[in-house]
Amino acid sequence: MNPLVEVSHLEKHFEIRSGLWRTVSSHVRAVDDVSFAIAAGETLGLVGESGSGKSTVARLLLRLITATGGSVRLEGREVTTARPAEMKALRRKMGIVFQDPAASMNPRAKIKWSLRRPLVTNGFEHARIDDQILAMLAKVNLGPELLNRYPHQLSGGQQQRISVARALLLRPRLLVLDEPTSALDISVQAQVLNILLDLQEAFGLTYLFISHDLNVVRYVSDRVAIMYLGKLMEIGPVEAVLQAPRHPYTQGLAASSPPMSPHQRGRQRVLLAEQPPSLIDLPTGCRLHPRCPFRQTICEETRPELRELAPGHWAACHLAENLPAPQPRDT
Ligand SMILES: Nc1ncnc2c1ncn2[C@@H]1O[C@H](COP(=O)(O)OP(=O)(O)OP(=O)(O)O)[C@@H](O)[C@H]1O
Ligand SMILES: [Mg+2]
Repeated sequence: MNPLVEVSHLEKHFEIRSGLWRTVSSHVRAVDDVSFAIAAGETLGLVGESGSGKSTVARLLLRLITATGGSVRLEGREVTTARPAEMKALRRKMGIVFQDPAASMNPRAKIKWSLRRPLVTNGFEHARIDDQILAMLAKVNLGPELLNRYPHQLSGGQQQRISVARALLLRPRLLVLDEPTSALDISVQAQVLNILLDLQEAFGLTYLFISHDLNVVRYVSDRVAIMYLGKLMEIGPVEAVLQAPRHPYTQGLAASSPPMSPHQRGRQRVLLAEQPPSLIDLPTGCRLHPRCPFRQTICEETRPELRELAPGHWAACHLAENLPAPQPRDT
């Protein structure tokens, strides 16, 4: 594998302050010793319940927040400790698209200003900026008439395509997509996903694709990583992980189809009892053990490490070899 991104032992603890003097009362371990790599041109899906640390990983990759520990390397260069000049160069190689496109645009600025801004601040020649914007708009199937509109005059799908265009204007190598289609109607979702796939091919992009929706992840990803309470539980080729999961947590996610949608949550609880515990007071041993139907004493006592169970397929479960075969998932 020729990794574009290498994440090793990444950690992010948030301080929780309380009381009259706002003293630090506890720490939230949002990301705890997470390691993975993404090959150039590949899409790695990142899946997990709300609060599992997916967006925190995304923000750490771009250094929008500072890591507590561990490292992120892009093309072999350290992101977490890069000095400002080097960081500026590294950041141009990374783009991010958030779930809510409207929130990442200035509501009082016309679309054309939102698109010009990254090019202007990065010193692009003024004469060429408009050409570049028009070319990128065409790539996301939008016409120039949108440039004079305000964000609220666009549909959700159009707004998200503008966000994608803006993220790609500086021709990054890595695009982090944090639930890019979760806020969109199903029909619009497919349209945006297909544009993302076309763009990936056209520009040779590498994607980290965060989503709750296993069907979406399966559609776009080569490999998938499953996160739970700040830890990676399973990672491997997308078909292997989602069709034949080796971790009870992934089995629980995969057992609901489509997973995570409100009307399916009852079904999911058949396997994963209760709500996830608090990140402040984490369970001993395996973090899943209070919810896991297969737990043994070792799961309460010893934290399982990721183990390679088949080529490229890793899971952090003491019992991975002895789990009952999961129910095949409806396709
Ligand atoms: N700035 C912050 N200060 C304190 N805690 C935070 C902060 N940002 C995130 N957290 C906590 O870190 C944990 C992970 O949050 P994160 O947003 O990464 O989860 P997520 O997997 O993206 O969830 P979702 O699916 O809801 O987007 C959560 O418990 C969250 O409350
Ligand atoms: Mg998130």
